[in-house]
Amino acid sequence: MCGIVGYIGNKRAAPIILAGLKRLEYRGYDSAGVSTIDGGALTMAKKAGKVADLERATTVSKTEGTIGIGHTRWATHGVPNDVNAHPHADSSDNIVLVHNGIIENYVTIKKKLTAQGYAFKSDTDSEVLAVFIGMLYKTFGNFEQAVRTALCEVEGTFGIVVMCAEHPDMLIAARRGSPLILGVGNDEYVVASDAAAIVSHTRQVVYLHENEMAIVTRNGFTTKTILDIETDPVIEEISIELEQIEKGGFPHFMLKEIFEQPTTFHDGFRGRLLVDEGNVRLGGLSTVTDRLLNAKRIIITACGTSWHAALIGEYLLENMARIPVEVEYASEFRYRNPIIDSSDVVIAISQSGETADTLSAIRLAKANGATVIGMVNVVGSSIARETDAGVYLHAGPEIGVASTKAFTSQLCVLTQFSLYMARTRGMSAETGREIATALEAIPEMIERILAKSDEVKEIARQYADASNFLYLGRGYNFPVALEGALKLKEISYIHAEGYPAAEMKHGPIALINENMPVVFIAPKDEIYEKVVSNIEEVRARQGKVIAIASESDDFIDTVANHVIKIPDTLPMLIPILASIPLQLLAYHIAVFRDCNVDMPRNLAKSVTVE
Ligand code: AGP
Ligand code: GLU
Repeated sequence: MCGIVGYIGNKRAAPIILAGLKRLEYRGYDSAGVSTIDGGALTMAKKAGKVADLERATTVSKTEGTIGIGHTRWATHGVPNDVNAHPHADSSDNIVLVHNGIIENYVTIKKKLTAQGYAFKSDTDSEVLAVFIGMLYKTFGNFEQAVRTALCEVEGTFGIVVMCAEHPDMLIAARRGSPLILGVGNDEYVVASDAAAIVSHTRQVVYLHENEMAIVTRNGFTTKTILDIETDPVIEEISIELEQIEKGGFPHFMLKEIFEQPTTFHDGFRGRLLVDEGNVRLGGLSTVTDRLLNAKRIIITACGTSWHAALIGEYLLENMARIPVEVEYASEFRYRNPIIDSSDVVIAISQSGETADTLSAIRLAKANGATVIGMVNVVGSSIARETDAGVYLHAGPEIGVASTKAFTSQLCVLTQFSLYMARTRGMSAETGREIATALEAIPEMIERILAKSDEVKEIARQYADASNFLYLGRGYNFPVALEGALKLKEISYIHAEGYPAAEMKHGPIALINENMPVVFIAPKDEIYEKVVSNIEEVRARQGKVIAIASESDDFIDTVANHVIKIPDTLPMLIPILASIPLQLLAYHIAVFRDCNVDMPRNLAKSVTVE
């Protein structure tokens, strides 16, 4: 949650920080703020709203200082207003910081500080940390020691960058639970919560580890733990390209990312799928092959869209590899004392690789001896680093807050993982070849569905004013219904629910009337006739049916109000194709409703708080 940028170098800091914040805005957009040190004094500009609002309302971009910090907020403590916006300064306007995360014991610290006569301007937990460091600085007279001491006292999570007006040549960055990357340029350093704010300056980066801090001056940097033990920073090269984090002619990142799927899906199996052998080579799992072969069951844990992919993964693995699978919301798993032991394999699925709940779930699984595998998009992210082995999604940076291409890439990787497991557990090479061949044909099929965007747009136009939507599907396509509903509610704010189609008659059918659009995922598979019966039940009650159906299906047009056809493929691959029109439907409806598609209200791309 939230985007952080810090700069120290020989250029004016404010414009660099503002440009970086714009790239990180998808992480949080409740408020924005920038502080620099200019002529030995702090400058401060902060404002509720977007980075552009901050620029319009202030003269921040003209600030001369060559050291500074900035923040885009996703509020956890205190409403999104100007005062609660970061950066936060101590009471002497000497120490100033930006913070991502939650200081869980802020009330206790605040009470102690208040008793000593300190006052607070905002309702945030973050200001308490700034005032605390300020108090400790007065005690020790040493900036670094003050930061370190404060961080040893605080509970919760933080990614922070701190400046001190009395030390205009030093930035201190530290993390626990929230990502922070230090970009190492020529005579300049950029600290940021993700690589998107760094790539236009340098490709050389250091990923800070848990409880690690970086002390950055104009001449170099050192890293150490917050317990003052020096660490050895490893400089790595980031591989993302600037074009990948720009809109490239599309009106929204989300639409760009939907249209990237033929390529991103292909990138998910390139070099992995062995069509002739009917098998898959997943290099990232080579160190855990034995443990996978001996696994008694697999637990998949994730949140949100990634959890929907996990549910499809359960169907894939159980059907293909005949291994028992359990799917767990990461947020539930970690607090319900689950039974896990060393014979379990736990898979964490995450686009960002930073989701706090998922990260905690894998830590719990590891502590109980399980083998932990990551299926993660962001290279070098916390989950990717903390798992025993993994398979990257290779979907490239996903900026739109609503996940699209990462979801289909998750399905690409899960299908391959299932095929690999199935082949080790007795699936014939012939069946394997059939699946691999079908998977290889998917990118071209996605291309054909994308060509129907205008057709979907026309349906979207007719239902853009609806107040509710139902999404129904069965088998592999039940999680697709859940995902379709989530996409719609996230970006259009229309209430939508996903249900197993046959469950409709046990309750939701009461909602059906002439105002209720019902989206059915109804491909030609072995339960097709049953789904058609559910469609008839909706029609009998005047509901409006939008069906996602197979190209080979001539009948469905007679029972549905609208039909979007997708190419015929193996049932296990239908979720990939069926989710594309649902992404487009949600997108076009949100645009008709004038919603901010890429930055929907109250959401943030990466949820690094519990
Ligand atoms: C997706 O559209 C959502 N914004 C959200 O549910 C997301 O999938 C969830 O927060 C998990 O994120 P992750 O994949 O980065 O772990
Ligand atoms: N807890 C802090 C706040 O509410 C930081 C939130 C964030 O990560 O943006 O201001």
